[in-house]
Amino acid sequence: KSELRLGIAGLGTVGAKVAQLIERKAELLAERVGRSIRITAISARDRSRGRGFDADGMAWFDNPVELAEKGEIDAFVELIGGSDGVARQAVEAALRRGIPVVTANKALLAHHGVALARLAAENDTEILFEAAVAGGIPVIKTMREALSANEVGRVYGILNGTCNYILTRMEKEGISFDACLKDAQALGYAEADPTFDIGGFDAAHKLAILTSLAFGTEISLESIFIEGISKITIADIVAAAELGYRIKLLAVALRTDSGIEQRVHPAMIPARSSLAQVDGVTNAVAIDSDLLGSILLAGPGAGGAATASAVLSDIMDVAGGFVPPTLGLPPSRLQPYHRARM
Ligand code: NDP
Ligand code: HSE
Repeated sequence: KSELRLGIAGLGTVGAKVAQLIERKAELLAERVGRSIRITAISARDRSRGRGFDADGMAWFDNPVELAEKGEIDAFVELIGGSDGVARQAVEAALRRGIPVVTANKALLAHHGVALARLAAENDTEILFEAAVAGGIPVIKTMREALSANEVGRVYGILNGTCNYILTRMEKEGISFDACLKDAQALGYAEADPTFDIGGFDAAHKLAILTSLAFGTEISLESIFIEGISKITIADIVAAAELGYRIKLLAVALRTDSGIEQRVHPAMIPARSSLAQVDGVTNAVAIDSDLLGSILLAGPGAGGAATASAVLSDIMDVAGGFVPPTLGLPPSRLQPYHRARM
């Protein structure tokens, strides 16, 4: 099979890390998917900035939409962010060309996922988004593949690394909300507009996607009750601790007699529970289902490398899928089958 030519739009915390890893792990990726993966086109705002990888031979586009429309690419990776504007236009342009899209953009999917999934299907292509929920935790593939025979009753957890990082440091180090938020931004955890994190909107975007996969329903962002953490004080956290609780920003979706209930809000959780012990940028997703019972997936929920891990797994799926060497057998390849179904 010929090489997979990638166009990457957005070279910030996540995009630059993806490009660096494709350069550093070129041989391993090629060996695993049976073809080489090469970045042929890139786009960001500031062309003069070094991004930590060798961009020689890559076509530069000031406009990501033009990259998606005209770039010599077989797959388009959108790592710009934002539910509208150039990210949406570029993703639509790539899908209209029948080019598969990999994105970490939960805002885009929460607002336009249904239309994008339809556009992908109409053009016989796909949109992959493992990195859009809970950073590096493989929750999308778990939900779609490992749990495919289950009926989910409830999915809930900690879906925003920035908020969990802030709440943890406020509690453990007594550091102010604002100082913790600044650190989360410096570490690359926060959204370009951190109001999305602390206002609970980012967790709601992720919950909307999870709910759709868990219950087989169309994405419904409008029906989510959303309250963020900006009113939480150190005094609240101390008072909760005295009662044996920790405060976490929880995202919850559950099946009720009157339909699917979705909400995001700060909650007091018994300090000894597994969820209460999820600290820092770590995310956790608990899934209750009929056959498997309860599972808890936890891991890095934000940051360049963890998110790039999920983006790369989608890129490898587009390249042909990958089944690791098992029981002494060599690696084999899967047909792409991760077509979005939102
Ligand atoms: P950054 O803000 O670090 O990077 C955004 C990139 O997009 C930058 O390279 C920027 O260019 C580029 N960009 C912005 N506007 C334009 C434009 N009009 N034309 C061309 N390029 C543009 O964001 P992140 O890397 O943190 O996030 C990217 C996506 O990944 C978002 O959807 C985010 O929600 C998602 N995500 C992020 C995670 C994280 O931990 N950071 C985790 C999971 C998902 P320039 O560099 O020149 O300014
Ligand atoms: N801003 C997001 C967070 C990035 O803090 O969880 C990961 O989606």
